[in-house]
Amino acid sequence: MSKPIHPLTETIGDEGKRGIFLASVAENRPVCPDHFVIHLDIKGLPASTAGQFVNIGPMIGHTGEPFQPARPLLKRPFSILSREDRGDGVARIGVLYRVLGFGTGWLGTLRPGDTAQVIGPLGHGFWVPEGIQTALMIAGGTGIAPLIYLSKRLKVSHPQVRIVMFEGVRTKCLVPFRVDLAEPCPDPKVLSSEIADIPILIATDDASAGVPGTVINAAEQWAAANIDDPAGTIAFSCGPEPMMAALAAMCERQKIRCQVSLEKSMACGMGTCQSCVVRVKDAKDPEGWVYKLCCKDGPPFDAAQVVWR
Ligand SMILES: Cc1cc2nc3c(=O)[nH]c(=O)nc-3n(C[C@H](O)[C@H](O)[C@H](O)COP(=O)(O)OP(=O)(O)OC[C@H]3O[C@@H](n4cnc5c(N)ncnc54)[C@H](O)[C@@H]3O)c2cc1C
Ligand code: FES
Repeated sequence: MSKPIHPLTETIGDEGKRGIFLASVAENRPVCPDHFVIHLDIKGLPASTAGQFVNIGPMIGHTGEPFQPARPLLKRPFSILSREDRGDGVARIGVLYRVLGFGTGWLGTLRPGDTAQVIGPLGHGFWVPEGIQTALMIAGGTGIAPLIYLSKRLKVSHPQVRIVMFEGVRTKCLVPFRVDLAEPCPDPKVLSSEIADIPILIATDDASAGVPGTVINAAEQWAAANIDDPAGTIAFSCGPEPMMAALAAMCERQKIRCQVSLEKSMACGMGTCQSCVVRVKDAKDPEGWVYKLCCKDGPPFDAAQVVWR
């Protein structure tokens, strides 16, 4: 059973509170090569919104001994993929992650019953403007995680909104979809699938599955053929920064609103270390832009306000 280990809870605007928690691993399973979904049970986790993230790091190793990494391990930030609140005050959050280096390598070693330290929920979530009829969710790789959470929330809060997802990866075996289902790896012949009843179009750089080419090309072609109300359409995105910069340009061309969830390198995750700056347009500034913090002012930003170069 997990419990708060620190009386650190504070208000962070209208998204509520955050805290430091000892979380218990419920499940940690592969979904495709190098990609896993971990479920963590956290007692007392404050309310969260789609687009927020948690910082995860070691507390006690699964041997029961304090985890002693060979080098200092800062907590790593991960978007919330899913959240299920049980009646007893325990929230089960899901995180989709790809093993890249030291931190995610450690995460991959966790087994059910192990513990981890979690700080969150952090940052602000996506916001949904009024009058939206269509929401395009455009993801690169594990960037699909916050968009799945957002889609599930949107289906409840805005059932009239049509949602279409786009997932771009280099090659078919890196498609981390069907994360809620049992199948570990997609059938290479499957060109599209569904997550929580939401149609998803897959684009692969190497043309090994789905639409050949970049996810932005796929989304632009789809939007040109299917969107007749740009003012009632919004794109939400998370993925590599060049992908989101290209999406911002596409949305400007198509006159579609766009929010991007940026994944800057982060240390503290809560506005202290200043390591995650983003340049954002500001007409009042002599240079036309100011620094914002990805962890505190984002991670989602209005794509039209981001200074991409
Ligand atoms: C707000 C936010 C949300 C995130 N959500 C997720 C998520 O849902 N799932 C997920 O798998 N990852 C997510 N990330 C990225 C994740 O935190 C990094 O993959 C992780 O920090 C890598 O840690 P590591 O110790 O394994 O790698 P390291 O040993 O620190 O680095 C290994 C390699 O990964 C690269 N790397 C490190 N951080 C990032 C980054 N932020 N983006 C791209 N490459 C990076 C390094 O440059 C290096 O090449 C998120 C990052 C942020 C800022
Ligand atoms: S990560 Fe420390 S200020 Fe953003």
